[in-house]
Amino acid sequence: MSERSIISISNVSKYFGPVRAVDGLSLEIQRGEFFSLLGPSGCGKTTLLRMLAGFEWPTKGEIFIDGQPMAAVPPHQRPVNMVFQNYAIFPHLNVRQNIAYGLRKAKLTQAETARKVNETLDMIKLSGYGLRAADELSGGERQRVALARALIKQPKVLLLDEPLGALDKKLREEMQLELRALQKTVGITFVFVTHDQEEALTMSDRVAVMSAGKVLQIDSPTQLYEAPVNQEVAGFIGNMNFFDGLVRAIKDGRATVDVGPLGEIHALVNGPHVSVGAAVTVAVRPEKITSFSAPPNTEANVVQGVLDKTAYFGDRSHLYIRIEGLEKPIAVVAHNVARELEGSGDLNRPVWLSWPAEAVVLLPSE
Ligand SMILES: Nc1ncnc2c1ncn2[C@@H]1O[C@H](COP(=O)(O)OP(=O)(O)OP(=O)(O)O)[C@@H](O)[C@H]1O
Ligand SMILES: [Mg+2]
Repeated sequence: MSERSIISISNVSKYFGPVRAVDGLSLEIQRGEFFSLLGPSGCGKTTLLRMLAGFEWPTKGEIFIDGQPMAAVPPHQRPVNMVFQNYAIFPHLNVRQNIAYGLRKAKLTQAETARKVNETLDMIKLSGYGLRAADELSGGERQRVALARALIKQPKVLLLDEPLGALDKKLREEMQLELRALQKTVGITFVFVTHDQEEALTMSDRVAVMSAGKVLQIDSPTQLYEAPVNQEVAGFIGNMNFFDGLVRAIKDGRATVDVGPLGEIHALVNGPHVSVGAAVTVAVRPEKITSFSAPPNTEANVVQGVLDKTAYFGDRSHLYIRIEGLEKPIAVVAHNVARELEGSGDLNRPVWLSWPAEAVVLLPSE
């Protein structure tokens, strides 16, 4: 375990009868990091968090927190605190009483408790709300009280299980920014669970993408988006077009890939799986493709098709271009910076698509 790690999970599994909720998982979380666990429902996120908190015990493997093995440490003796998805704050207590509840075992004087509650109220920007009853708060305010109650004990690690799940979109986005800023101010390590990929990308220093109890990739948001390691990660983080291809040639770090109906596609060599003769999946993000209504004059990859359908989103449109011999149309995101030209949405009109070699990610074929 490295010096900087606050959490080290070593080959941990958790079985519930035949269900492998967590399956031989290893990862390290650094001090002060905003670390997210991202994955579809049932992939083991909550189970992993509960093992960190001590509410669940690993079937196999070891967990270290702050250098200490956790095998024999009960929840209340761990330097962690957990915020749950359905923020359980007490409706019969006011805001101050709810926050002070986090200190009930700390044996502080009344004055000390009051001072800490005030500090924490400041931190979550709810000074002046102290005497409000919990049921007089909005969803976002209630969630901040739950957060305050967890933070007041100054844990080394805060575990957050989809804490914004119950909020509407706008409030959720506000809270994402606030939570991120708060984490940087207090410097506590956050382990944040979500199944919302945008949320994970905007908030985290690093993200672990999970599937079926395992980790598929651990990386920074940009790395995950720009260099996913396989189709599952690529498809889970945003959208991607996938084409089956065969590597024909490699020269100066560039590969020429034969993609049947698209012809030859140029890409950068991005790993040892790209070798002459290898089957690969060519992956391109929709927003990295430019569409033209006449053949473009470019060195980049160009393919021709016809407009199959469009979807208008105000700031952008999604275009789907049908290519002869290709099963699925190619998805393109076009930003509507200029007013759409008359007739540009006509179905079946010819469209040329272009994307540079740098926009292609070559994935191992599956
Ligand atoms: N106490 C339990 N007994 C039996 N099976 C369980 C138990 N807890 C979780 N599981 C199973 O373990 C798997 C992982 O569950 P977990 O709650 O960790 O998923 P999750 O990633 O948090 O999903 P979600 O996004 O829906 O909250 C699921 O198949 C679930 O049914
Ligand atoms: Mg869960």
